[in-house]
Amino acid sequence: MQTDPSSFFRRQTIFLTGGTGGLGGCLLFKLALKVDAHKVYVLVRGSVQRAQAQLEAMMPDEIAAIRATGKIQFIVGDVTKPEFGLDRVVLSEMAENVTVIIHSAANISLKASYRRAVDNNCLPTLWLAQFGSTFKNLTSFVYISTAFVNGFLPDGPVEERIYELGDAEQQLSDILTTGYPESLSQAQPTPPLFPSRYSFSKNLTERLLISRNPNLPLLIVRPTCIAPAISQPHPYYSRPGSCPMSTYIRQYLMAPDSGVIQVSPKHQSGSNIVDEIPVDLVANLILLHTMRGRIGIVHACSKSYVPRSLSQLHGTILAHISPHMPRDEFEYTSDCFMVEGDYARFWGIMGRDLHFSNGASKELANVRGALSMGLEGHDAAEFMATRARLVAKDVEARSIKNKL
Ligand SMILES: NC(=O)c1ccc[n+]([C@@H]2O[C@H](COP(=O)([O-])OP(=O)(O)OC[C@H]3O[C@@H](n4cnc5c(N)ncnc54)[C@H](OP(=O)(O)O)[C@@H]3O)[C@@H](O)[C@H]2O)c1
Repeated sequence: MQTDPSSFFRRQTIFLTGGTGGLGGCLLFKLALKVDAHKVYVLVRGSVQRAQAQLEAMMPDEIAAIRATGKIQFIVGDVTKPEFGLDRVVLSEMAENVTVIIHSAANISLKASYRRAVDNNCLPTLWLAQFGSTFKNLTSFVYISTAFVNGFLPDGPVEERIYELGDAEQQLSDILTTGYPESLSQAQPTPPLFPSRYSFSKNLTERLLISRNPNLPLLIVRPTCIAPAISQPHPYYSRPGSCPMSTYIRQYLMAPDSGVIQVSPKHQSGSNIVDEIPVDLVANLILLHTMRGRIGIVHACSKSYVPRSLSQLHGTILAHISPHMPRDEFEYTSDCFMVEGDYARFWGIMGRDLHFSNGASKELANVRGALSMGLEGHDAAEFMATRARLVAKDVEARSIKNKL
């Protein structure tokens, strides 16, 4: 087994999508500066200037060093366009040279319709897998999915595998013709339902990727909620809107709602785990599995970090926000007649009790060095508190600005 990431990545040419996103930006930083990748093609929307400005805003102190490596080639395209809108010359150059594809681009909006979610998340991935299958030297196709592809399961254990959910080809065809997966209701007649159409589109993608591409060296990585970075590219690095729990805190501070959250009878004190993992650990886990040639499905979840309960999350929000902020309490109930707060209902996962396994990544826990999975010196409670304070400070600053 290889132990030095650079000795592996120095020989890899990578095609990265979503490189201007929260996770993709962190991967780009690591590929360029931490593991010395041979070359990275980065698909970006709009223009190279736009992408560079986005990365500069997210990583002002690191972007110059990334660029200076000379290893990054931005290519302008869009995953919703035929062949990603890429030039024939670029496509054949990639087919010739690329050894690893990391597909991180997605529309992560929880409000998207089925059709939009499928057009952005499913169809492009299927095309990329088909295209990648023609590459001469492809050793790994990494698809970034989400752990909430299994949000339709009842509370309890969630394994790193595909759960039966009927005919995926038929469900895709339903969405493309009627905008709704009618045949899904036969496969899944009872709640819990999917937390969002986004998570269903990712579930569908996983099943179709596997059934259509039996020979693809496919690694599916399922992060739970992604949190800001512990340390790389820098502490608290994130892309605004890409960390669900930070957005939850922000929404709550901007307009507290009823605070009522439906939980299972077992968790009336809010003891269910709200699963989250910092983006730099997610990126390390992805690159470590890629380097070890793993094929299959892996979770990136709080078992590889620090599990935190819903009441602990709320405790942090209440304890660390500014005294000028509203401070409503939260109420956990399994009384279905109590009306849940808007945010809890919108997020759909706050009161769930899904135990994501991380068996495939247990062997990574002791990895140290450029792709360390260690937490030495990291205080998770203080980290969360600082996050809440940073969000509160920003909300307060914006509300003062709006009043001026
Ligand atoms: N954030 C989470 O908590 C979370 C949890 C589980 C799984 N995931 C998965 O992790 C992956 C990365 O998520 P993220 O948090 O980094 O999301 P993000 O910050 O919203 O970034 C999304 C990336 O995808 C790109 N993109 C979107 N639509 C595109 C299109 N039509 N053509 C080309 N590029 C497009 C965006 O480009 P622009 O910069 O041009 O918008 C951006 O680079 C996604 O696959 C997501 O489903 C995320």
